[in-house]
Amino acid sequence: MICEPNWNLLLAKANTTNETVLEAARAEIWQSWRRSCAENVDHPRAKELFDRHKLPGFHDPFAGGGALPLEAQRLGLESHATDLNPVAVLINKAMIEIPPKFAGQPPVNPVSRDEIARGGRWNGKGAQGLAEDVRHYGKWMRDEAEKRIGHLYPKIEITAEMAEERPDLKPLVGRHLTVVTWLWARTVKSPNPAFRDVDVPLVSSFILSPMADKEAFIESVVEGNSYRFVVKIGIPKDAEAAKNGTKLGRGSNFTCAMSGSPISGDYIKAEGQAGRMSARLLAIVAEGDRGRVYLSPTAEHEETACRAVPDWRPTGDAPPPHWRNMCALWPSGMG
Ligand SMILES: C[S@@+](CC[C@H](N)C(=O)[O-])C[C@H]1O[C@@H](n2cnc3c(N)ncnc32)[C@H](O)[C@@H]1O
Repeated sequence: MICEPNWNLLLAKANTTNETVLEAARAEIWQSWRRSCAENVDHPRAKELFDRHKLPGFHDPFAGGGALPLEAQRLGLESHATDLNPVAVLINKAMIEIPPKFAGQPPVNPVSRDEIARGGRWNGKGAQGLAEDVRHYGKWMRDEAEKRIGHLYPKIEITAEMAEERPDLKPLVGRHLTVVTWLWARTVKSPNPAFRDVDVPLVSSFILSPMADKEAFIESVVEGNSYRFVVKIGIPKDAEAAKNGTKLGRGSNFTCAMSGSPISGDYIKAEGQAGRMSARLLAIVAEGDRGRVYLSPTAEHEETACRAVPDWRPTGDAPPPHWRNMCALWPSGMG
């Protein structure tokens, strides 16, 4: 068995990138492996299993985010990672498979190449050249995406009017906050003949944040033949109703926000199949100075989203046929 080197040294946060400490740990692993080989010299498969010139490989069959294979690789072991989830596989490829292929190579992006040409040799170690390229082309992709589709993701201006009913917004008045999420509700035409032209929302909960001292929820305010959503801070008067949104018990039944009439799952399915489902903006979640800021939807943001018309659609199957079995196995939240 491999003996324990002084892991405390390695575990100290300051040492996680200290090459001297890592080198000492690598040497310790080799020493420990040679001891194991010596102890197992009589093993019937000693030549194959206890080769003192070749460290055993490391395999994490449930690698997830790849922390263990990455550390094993940093400690000099041949590292292998597998996972059922394609996202985990992608992360592990990016962490342990691709970087070693570019170890010691200079960056190839034009800016770095010009700099190298001016200053002579590239002195970067390990995957630093690849990291330069990832930063350069990552920024290019970000900037290009902003140019092409940035107008579809507007910031939200906090106005004095918004802060009138929301004292928590006062310090943010005049600021343009980055939106992190637009929360939408699917809608169907109300099954109640009195409101048959109204698209009513199917919402499984009106609670935005249940966190103590940061509670936020959505109120649906009915005005004549229409309704609007207002985001409120604090605990709702009828917490149970807010928790249930427009949902009616378990299953896929809802209630009409205008009339209280029940909306059955079968009705929703039929409306969907008839192409009569739509959507309404429920709330906007923006980045504040100290976490998320929940805001009422604005007409401008709702219209911006509705104006977005894709000029391209995937032509193949999505997901591709060979992924279908995998999708069925993906843990919830990953699909
Ligand atoms: C807790 S995470 C792994 C954490 C990781 N080993 C670490 O220490 O950081 C568990 C992983 O196992 C994967 N997994 C679950 N069942 C699996 C299976 N039958 N085959 C392969 N991977 C599986 C999941 O996709 C998930 O990424």
